[in-house]
Amino acid sequence: MKIQVLDHPVIQHNLSVARERATDCDTFASCIEQMASLMVYEVTRNLPVDDCAVQTPLEATTGQRMAGRTVLVPILRAGLGMVQGFKRLLPAAMVAHLGLYRDEESLLPVVYYKKLPHDLEGRTLIVLDPMLATGGTADAAIRFLKELQPASIALVSILAAPEGVELVHRNHPDVPMYTAALDRELNERGYILPGLGDAGDRIFGTLPEEDAS
Ligand code: URA
Repeated sequence: MKIQVLDHPVIQHNLSVARERATDCDTFASCIEQMASLMVYEVTRNLPVDDCAVQTPLEATTGQRMAGRTVLVPILRAGLGMVQGFKRLLPAAMVAHLGLYRDEESLLPVVYYKKLPHDLEGRTLIVLDPMLATGGTADAAIRFLKELQPASIALVSILAAPEGVELVHRNHPDVPMYTAALDRELNERGYILPGLGDAGDRIFGTLPEEDAS
C-alpha cells in the first residue's frame, strides 16, 4: 500500500462538506482542522515510546510515554490549516514552518522560507500539506528535511492525486503517506479532480471575487 486512506465516517463527512463549492471559508477551515485531528491516531500509531514508572493511587505500575517531541512541518501556506488539529492531540509538538515556490525557469520547487527547531536530528517529523497534487513540493520538502537527519518523516494530506503518490513513493519509499481520499487525477493546471479547489484560498478566504463566500 503506497498511501493509507483514512476512510473513517467522520473524516469522510467533513471531507464532503469541504469539497462542496458552497461551503464558506470558516466552515471549510474548520473541516480541514477536524479532519487533521481525526487523522492523528493513525499517523502516530508507531510513534516511539519509553516505558516509565507510574504511581497510581493504589500501587506502582509501568506505563509508556512518547519518546521525544514530535515536530509538525506545515508546508506554507495551506499546511497551516492542519496544525491546530494535530496540536489538539499532540500539544507538546513543535512546529517547523517550511515555504516552497516553483521557480519559473527551472520549474523546480525552491525553499523560500524556513523556521525550524535547531535540533531536528533523530526526531519524528510529520509533514502537513492538504493537497498532494503533482508531488513536486512534497518531494522537495522531504528531500530538504532528510538532510537534517530526522529519525522518520511521515506525509499527511487531505486529498491526494495518483501522480503525487507515485512520485513521492518512488523517491521516498521510506516515507509513509496518509490521506482522507485518493482522487482520480490532475487537470491541466495541476488541480486535483474531483478535488476541493485551492485549499489555501479556501482556508484563508483569498478566493477570487466570483468564488468568495
Ligand atoms: N493545490 C490546491 O490547493 N488544490 C489542488 O487541487 C492542487 C494543488
